[in-house]
Amino acid sequence: MEVIIQPTYTQLAEVAAEIIRDALLKKPNLALGLATGSTPIGLYKALVRMHETDGLDFSDVTTFNLDEYVGIPPNHPYSYHTFMATHFFNAVNIPAENCHIPQSTVVGHEEFCEKYEAAIVNTGGIDIQVLGIGKDGHIGFNEPSSSLGSRTRIKTLTQSTLEANAPHFGGTIDAVPKMAITMGVGTIMEAKQCLLLASGTSKAEAIANAVEGPITAEVPASVLQMHPRTVVVIDEAAATQLKRVDYYKHVYANKQKLLSQLS
Ligand code: F6R
Repeated sequence: MEVIIQPTYTQLAEVAAEIIRDALLKKPNLALGLATGSTPIGLYKALVRMHETDGLDFSDVTTFNLDEYVGIPPNHPYSYHTFMATHFFNAVNIPAENCHIPQSTVVGHEEFCEKYEAAIVNTGGIDIQVLGIGKDGHIGFNEPSSSLGSRTRIKTLTQSTLEANAPHFGGTIDAVPKMAITMGVGTIMEAKQCLLLASGTSKAEAIANAVEGPITAEVPASVLQMHPRTVVVIDEAAATQLKRVDYYKHVYANKQKLLSQLS
């Protein structure tokens, strides 16, 4: 795992956007796995800026979102469909037909999940999977105890996730959808590269468990230790419970030095 620690949220978002920009410049038909939530908003903002000011071209990009609530319509103000349109899709030139988001209904969900997985495979697999992390270590909506080999399916959300999402639903837990459709941990692990983002002290314990703790279904993000190409980009606040901060910083600083000598 490569762990990149940045002083602030804005800088972590910039580093994450640069990783995606560099990959896109090398491969214009990049397949991106995308996350919602507060963490990737800065990343999307930076990518939109790169599109508007530097002409970064998304016209051949395909996207697959990790998850969507079940039981609210796609045009609900807090659906992930609405989130993606607002923060990213409406502001860049990805063709609408290239954007895939799990459906928000249980009707025919098994067939839908199979087709979602097949669409990822048919695209050639996800090149970069963007991930946030829950305070309980979830990725996507794979809550603790999710099978580390799980595929796209419906999951029941934990109390901790319902509480975290309540502010988006008028502050009441009762209004938060109780289930979500999510890519599985196994689906995520098939991405060629994973880009895990986290900001703030509220994520420090989850990051320490995911990066330095034992690999366990109790912390689904810990399975990323088994992924050959995971990059963790976090701010100082999210790094406060990591044991090897000095080492991660040393490795990254030297990589930057080396890269600057090569260019
Ligand atoms: C959302 C998702 C979730 C979030 C996680 C962190 O698509 O997959 O796993 O990444 O709940 O959410 P924030 O960023 O709001 O703290």
